[in-house]
Amino acid sequence: MDFFETTRNRCSYRGLFKDELVPREDLKKIVQAGLDAPSGCNRQTTEFIVVDNREIIGKIQALPGGNKAMTGGKAYILCLVDETQDAVYEGFSFQIEDCAAAVENILLAITALGYAGVWIDGWLRTHNRAEKLGELTGVPRGKKIRVIIPLGIPAEPLERKEKKPLEERVRFL
Ligand SMILES: Cc1cc2nc3c(=O)[nH]c(=O)nc-3n(C[C@H](O)[C@H](O)[C@H](O)COP(=O)(O)O)c2cc1C
Repeated sequence: MDFFETTRNRCSYRGLFKDELVPREDLKKIVQAGLDAPSGCNRQTTEFIVVDNREIIGKIQALPGGNKAMTGGKAYILCLVDETQDAVYEGFSFQIEDCAAAVENILLAITALGYAGVWIDGWLRTHNRAEKLGELTGVPRGKKIRVIIPLGIPAEPLERKEKKPLEERVRFL
């Protein structure tokens, strides 16, 4: 799949996955795409926990309030921001932006390799779910799980959302 096909094909997937694990080799390629992302002042603040162990997957899926998007993953990528990071440029720090750049690279890599997944953030922010997941996966003090990406081989059709036309969102000067 070429790059522009990948960006066009990427879409959030909240359906069922085939009952096949994601090989570690593919998970490494996917998370490497996250490591390759740009970061403010090249501080590379985002860290990752990749879960492909069935027992831990089971515990993640048993967290209260799990919805369809969350509970079917054949692997999970947890993206951690560094909450202790000091300002790195003119009083600003960029850990959220660093994390977002990494997540998008990861989603593109997932698409390029024929898997599907979804960027889950809102779900983590309520009912202390980020903290509960952090306890389960041994997240150290000062780090916080900001995004979780369940992934696998999609068993249902992908539904690409209609995007607004270029003319509506882009101006050339
Ligand atoms: C910052 C951010 C937070 C998101 N949080 C969630 C979430 O908590 N749960 C979810 O199902 N999707 C979440 N999404 C996915 C969006 O709903 C999705 O990207 C959007 O509907 C557009 O669809 P598409 O990804 O298929 O283009 C999030 C996306 C972003 C960028």
